[in-house]
Amino acid sequence: MIIKDIVKAKEILQNNELIAIPTETVYGLAGNAYSDEAIKKIFVLKKRPLHNPLIVHLKSVSSIYDVATEIPENALILANKFWPGPLTLLLKKQDHISDLITAGKNTVAVRVPNHPFALILLNQLDFPLVAPSANPFGSISPTSAEHVLHYFGQEIDLILDGGECEKGVESTIIGFENNTPILYRHGSIPIEEIEKITGKLSIITNNETSPNSPGMLSRHYAPKTDTYLTNDVSALLNNCKGKKVGLLLFKKITQNDNNTNNTSLIIHQEILSKSGNYSEAAKNLYAAMHRLDQNKLDLIIAERLPDEGLGKTINDKLERATKKNR
Ligand code: TXA
Ligand code: MG
Repeated sequence: MIIKDIVKAKEILQNNELIAIPTETVYGLAGNAYSDEAIKKIFVLKKRPLHNPLIVHLKSVSSIYDVATEIPENALILANKFWPGPLTLLLKKQDHISDLITAGKNTVAVRVPNHPFALILLNQLDFPLVAPSANPFGSISPTSAEHVLHYFGQEIDLILDGGECEKGVESTIIGFENNTPILYRHGSIPIEEIEKITGKLSIITNNETSPNSPGMLSRHYAPKTDTYLTNDVSALLNNCKGKKVGLLLFKKITQNDNNTNNTSLIIHQEILSKSGNYSEAAKNLYAAMHRLDQNKLDLIIAERLPDEGLGKTINDKLERATKKNR
């Protein structure tokens, strides 16, 4: 059921059941962070492996002291600068934080979401909310209440409708080694914005079997349709003779080259931002992927964006959508 009833939302959460909540990044599948019963339901519903930890959503910067300890100075500086907002910090967890949330790690991921409904709700509860993106494990994240309904139907009692997500891609995740910040996941805040405050970030790398942050798993955010990422859309199109193709483009539409006879059939085109604005492109990215995926295409060709600012984040998501191996 898609509704805007915060009282009902609160009641369901207090009963250790799940709801979907809007955030500024993507919709989350939320449950009581202090209830193992609720946490387990999240993993089951999402079909998410237990080794993939969850983010704890807090109502304010000062709530950090309810869940984390030994907080580095840079973490506080970043929290004060970006919260409420799309930044997740990995901090040493307090003992009472469930190992189910952290997948047995000694760090807990925390953020204060910047959406009025999420904040009103958090302020009315006496527990924080764990909330992964409200999609089945590995599929495209939802940026509207309708996306969540499409994925879970009646399996969720309530989807709190907060409209389309303003940012459209997940939070940026930063961890720390002592006081030194490390990027764990590209997200809504471009790394350049963080580096202005902290200096150059190092980027965590993963081996495939034991990812440090499963947001870094190579295949993620993926459409069901085969997807390819390229700098040269026209060249790839010319190699897809007779195929039904969908295009995911940054600014401009693409036309088949009329001089060649055996062209591919362009069924659907999505333009992320006609004016070439990265924020607009990020906001539109997942909805465009959802629409393309519903066209029964043979393949999707996605155009790589310039590798700067949010272009970097979008390229990172697209790369994960196109990798064939987990
Ligand atoms: O924007 C967002 O962050 C959204 C909204 C709903 O807040 N949430 C989200 O959650 O993207 P999820 O579960 O889809 O992604 C959380 C990421 C995963 O890649 C997980 O591995 C990583 O955070 N993570 C959580 N705790 C961690 C920890 N202790 N160490 C390393 N990575 C962690
Ligand atoms: Mg996710």
